[in-house]
Amino acid sequence: MSYIRNTKSITLKHRTETIDYLCTDLPGGPLPGIGQILITGATGYIGGRLTPELLNRGYEVSVMVRKASPEIKDRFPGARVVVADASNFEDLCNALKGISVAYYFLHSLQLGQKQFEKADLQMAENFKRASEINGVNRIIYLTGLGREDSHLSPHLANRMKVAEILSDGAVPVTLLRAGMIIGSGSASYEILRHLVKNSRIFLIPKWAKTNGQPIGIRNVIKYLVGVLEKPETSGRSFDIGGKDVLTYVDMLRQLAFLLGKKRYYIPAGPINYTPLYGYFASLLTPVPAPITKVLIESCKYEVICQNNDILDIIPLKRLSFQEALLKAMTAEETDQVKTRWSDAYPPDYDSAVKLHELNYSPRYISSHILLSHKSPEALFDAFCQVGGTNGWFHSNWMWRLRGMFDRLIQGVGSSRGRRSADTLRINDVIDFWRVEDLVENKRLLLRAEMIMPGMAWLEFIADTEGGISRLNINAYLEPTNWKGVVYWYNFLPFHGVIFKNLIHQIERRAEG
Ligand SMILES: NC(=O)c1ccc[n+]([C@@H]2O[C@H](COP(=O)([O-])OP(=O)(O)OC[C@H]3O[C@@H](n4cnc5c(N)ncnc54)[C@H](OP(=O)(O)O)[C@@H]3O)[C@@H](O)[C@H]2O)c1
Repeated sequence: MSYIRNTKSITLKHRTETIDYLCTDLPGGPLPGIGQILITGATGYIGGRLTPELLNRGYEVSVMVRKASPEIKDRFPGARVVVADASNFEDLCNALKGISVAYYFLHSLQLGQKQFEKADLQMAENFKRASEINGVNRIIYLTGLGREDSHLSPHLANRMKVAEILSDGAVPVTLLRAGMIIGSGSASYEILRHLVKNSRIFLIPKWAKTNGQPIGIRNVIKYLVGVLEKPETSGRSFDIGGKDVLTYVDMLRQLAFLLGKKRYYIPAGPINYTPLYGYFASLLTPVPAPITKVLIESCKYEVICQNNDILDIIPLKRLSFQEALLKAMTAEETDQVKTRWSDAYPPDYDSAVKLHELNYSPRYISSHILLSHKSPEALFDAFCQVGGTNGWFHSNWMWRLRGMFDRLIQGVGSSRGRRSADTLRINDVIDFWRVEDLVENKRLLLRAEMIMPGMAWLEFIADTEGGISRLNINAYLEPTNWKGVVYWYNFLPFHGVIFKNLIHQIERRAEG
């Protein structure tokens, strides 16, 4: 098994991961002479999947990220990387220089209902003006689906306002309006799957009988590429949906059926309060409360396509809900999840200092070393498998308990799992950690994203000394205040148990 930075081809012991490009059956082919294409939100779920497709079709692609890092270049070989925060107008003016077509995939949902609206409108305003100044030919925006003449959830209303702002400028905009997106790693799919997996009984509020028109991620990516290659879509708005219109209860039923689970559905009577359901959904699923609350609030409003004009221009086979589910389930089972909702950074991203960016050593360090006759490569493989479905070996319950506490206080929790059990790349999430550094056959560095009074890291190192392999686990904490000091000393007695256990389990599981 090998864990390398380049995601194009990861050779594993059991299989070779190759990118399965989706846009091979699009009507027409790549359009020459389009010029430089900018993909915003390239670290996100949609942008991360679209970028390789466009590169594969031979386009000149720039990806816009908030922070420069070597792994972004490795992840999208051939793409130019531009660094910009969309809340900063100057940044955007620089990012949009020389750009012909810009994909707009930005939103701040993770900030929660109170803050995302203002942040999103500001980003859209900045983007519109910066695109005008730079003479961009076209913006393509993937937005939400909903009836403009009806009452909308704050999230959907916000998507519409962003669409209005962008369309109000001099640059022609193509709007693709989508409802729930179903694909491996999508927030909606993971919410549904974890709900069905973790709950036998469902209280069904009235709004769960609202209709939606979910769309498979494959269809979304194809439409995004398709409209780029059909210049006549410029300045137009299209609704995109899957083959089926169905209620949210039916979605749960269909997924339970596919998973072979018997579930019970009981009318919730007067209990219709969506934030309550959003909160419980965040406890039962890996998706954090700011996102579950906003998405569940949107379930009250019908989101079905108002027109099917897109099919005249891009006649695709639309996936049914079950087909989209099956594709997502297959990708998970075969460990081929390309991007995940958790790929985008959490809201406190700005304060996410990397360990090497600290100009000093963190104040508290707990080190554990084990000598082994197994090779450093084998030890590296073993520690790269921590978390997700593999758990944290025998001390799993302690990590889960810490994760549950984090989730109760609206943190990321420990059930985010990992994108893949077999592969790892920088920035992947592993439960409440995020991979900060990965040096093949040597080092795995995880940065804590749970709520805690300081910055924390967990480092695994495999090396040799005097012909003997050495496995080293270091836990670091840089407290922000006195609470961090109390936190460290409270957990110190547990470190002995947790890390002693972990280090022995890793060594035992290392093969060779
Ligand atoms: N996923 C769905 O189910 C769905 C359904 C319908 C429509 N859409 C629309 O599709 C678009 C993309 O969705 P997604 O699921 O790919 O979102 P996502 O995974 O949450 O990614 C959001 C992206 O926005 C970036 N971003 C946020 N604030 C930024 C800022 N101030 N400056 C620069 N970048 C910033 C994030 O970068 P960082 O990594 O730096 O945070 C991240 O790359 C959105 O407009 C969404 O409304 C999505």
